[in-house]
Amino acid sequence: MSKINLTQIMMQKFALELNSLLAMENAGIERLQSRVQEVSLTDAKQRIQHHIAESLVHQERLQQLVSSIGGTPTQDKIGLPLPSYPKPMLDMMNMLMTKEEWELKNAEFDMIVENAEVTCYLMVIQKAQMAGGEFLNTIEPLSLNMKDEQSMVDWIRTNSPAMLAQLWPKIQSAMDASSSPSLSSPSQSPESSPSPTLSQ
Ligand SMILES: [Fe+2]
Repeated sequence: MSKINLTQIMMQKFALELNSLLAMENAGIERLQSRVQEVSLTDAKQRIQHHIAESLVHQERLQQLVSSIGGTPTQDKIGLPLPSYPKPMLDMMNMLMTKEEWELKNAEFDMIVENAEVTCYLMVIQKAQMAGGEFLNTIEPLSLNMKDEQSMVDWIRTNSPAMLAQLWPKIQSAMDASSSPSLSSPSQSPESSPSPTLSQ
């Protein structure tokens, strides 16, 4: 096979890699746009809003990179790596979990997705480094995107205790309300137990 053919194949493969990152951003933006509607915590809402703006820039960078190596930027969306629960488990979750617990669960899903994005960028950057030549030009824009993804992961990690602290009183009071009247003792110390299990 001639050198020109090999380069063409490499370009095609790399355009495919970049388009899969783009499809991930396309799907991620759609998810964040629906997440921002449902989040009740002000800080989280603002951070998601900020990440939507960042992701739109990521999308543009990737579109330019795909075009620059002769590919066509995709408008498709990948299926995001979100947990898929067995039906009986999901039914139980829907029955037992409050709105606030779902809010925490969704923050957990946010972190899973953002971590996956970091992973995907990292792997493509490593391939670009290995391929060398003109592929090296993609490293800077890809690294900028990856940096934003990592900041989003770090933000969720750092702020998850505060999210939990803000949502916990509502989760606790929903449990108190659903417990039997004999358990609603007014002398219950708030710091007695951080565990969600009610004392019997
Ligand atoms: Fe992201």
